[in-house]
Amino acid sequence: MAKLWNGRFARGTHNLMEQFSESISFDRELAEVDIRASLAHAKMLNAVKLISTKDLSAVRKGMKEILESIRAGKFVYRTSDEDIHMAIESELTRRVGDPARRLHTARSRNDQVATDTRLWTREKIDLLSGLILNVQKALLATATREKDVVIPGYTHLQRAQPILASQHLLAYVEMLERDRERMADARKRVNRMPLGSCAMAGTTLPIDRQMVCKELGFDGLCENSMDAVSDRDFIVETLSALTLLFLHLSRFSEDVILWSGSEMGLIKLDDAWSTGSSIMPQKRNPDLMELTRGKTGRIVGSLMGMITVIKGLPMTYNRDLQEDKDPLFDAVATAELTLRCLAEFVPTIKFNRKRAASLLVDGFLDATVLAEYLVNKGLPFRSAHEVSGTLVRHAEENGLRLCEIPLEFMRGVSPLIGKDVFQCLNPQNTPKAYVSAGSAGHKEVSKALTRWKKRLAKK
Ligand code: ARG
Repeated sequence: MAKLWNGRFARGTHNLMEQFSESISFDRELAEVDIRASLAHAKMLNAVKLISTKDLSAVRKGMKEILESIRAGKFVYRTSDEDIHMAIESELTRRVGDPARRLHTARSRNDQVATDTRLWTREKIDLLSGLILNVQKALLATATREKDVVIPGYTHLQRAQPILASQHLLAYVEMLERDRERMADARKRVNRMPLGSCAMAGTTLPIDRQMVCKELGFDGLCENSMDAVSDRDFIVETLSALTLLFLHLSRFSEDVILWSGSEMGLIKLDDAWSTGSSIMPQKRNPDLMELTRGKTGRIVGSLMGMITVIKGLPMTYNRDLQEDKDPLFDAVATAELTLRCLAEFVPTIKFNRKRAASLLVDGFLDATVLAEYLVNKGLPFRSAHEVSGTLVRHAEENGLRLCEIPLEFMRGVSPLIGKDVFQCLNPQNTPKAYVSAGSAGHKEVSKALTRWKKRLAKK
């Protein structure tokens, strides 16, 4: 098979070399953006009179046919073409001849691939941001539906304080909001155009980069031709944002696994989203959650791979950079499917209210409110903590809940305690008493639900 650099080489490439260096098996993902960028480039070449209007029409016609054959699954990808850029150019040449041979004027695969990858990444950032928003909306709807459910909040996996389950769900809405912000921020630097930097030095031909930039919807040019073709920091940024997203999703997964496990038993996994065991009939496994947690490793791996590829690369384009695609494509595809699943799964979360109430009974979740009760009576917090601690110890030793300790005994520990103490010794009611901004009780959670409803509706 004749190569595009045929003029210079006397002998063909080793067949193993062809196999080793090809990227067409995966960079076909860039086919559509490659065509879009080529059409913008051709339009500009015509505008600055580097190609004729007849050439431009021929290129447009050929590209239209190629795009159709790609969409119809009929395009033949040949390993001998090495990558998608050469595959499309060769096919265009077969179809329209000389006009196709003019298309690569003032262009190199170096600026071409960087441009395609940015266009592709920009599209995927928009897609993924929308999918994150869907998960946020699902969390918000679930938090709204479950807004009166009180569950234990944990620190160190020990029951700590009673909270509204909605507060727990809204915590993830907030994390995902930051993830969307990070995607939007990465997008600003993704959306710069390398095209026109050519191999790395630019060109002596009178091209109009601004025109192509506008045509392709870029916010501006990559200003330095050498930086433009050689850096992939925009991929690192995108993968970093995805990594943080998945750190959040994996934490969410872990929470759901704990909630649905036999020890907590706070939710029962929906049939559609769990799997059975081939041997233990009683099982209902949280595979969606475990796989989300597991796929986080893959995303982190992509980020590490990309960082390692870039490290120490001399200026400018080096073939190492071809290794940017697999991690990027894989991470984006993984994120897309995971987010689609989560948006559907989240609304199936329904808390078992009876079980939630029973988890509040043991564990002295009202000990902190008791201390705060004493603070309200004028006791310094440290002393109040001690009184509450003493009562917890007494209750523990005697197999009692705090509200079951006789008032007389309590007054013996602190005379500040009165009959009204029993109002706060009921974990089920505690969240009604939280008042600080952002707290986990009825007042603040209800405000937060309204706030998020407005915010997410605007997006
Ligand atoms: N397939 C290459 C890549 O993905 C395209 C650029 C090749 N440029 C070159 N001079 N060999 O990076």
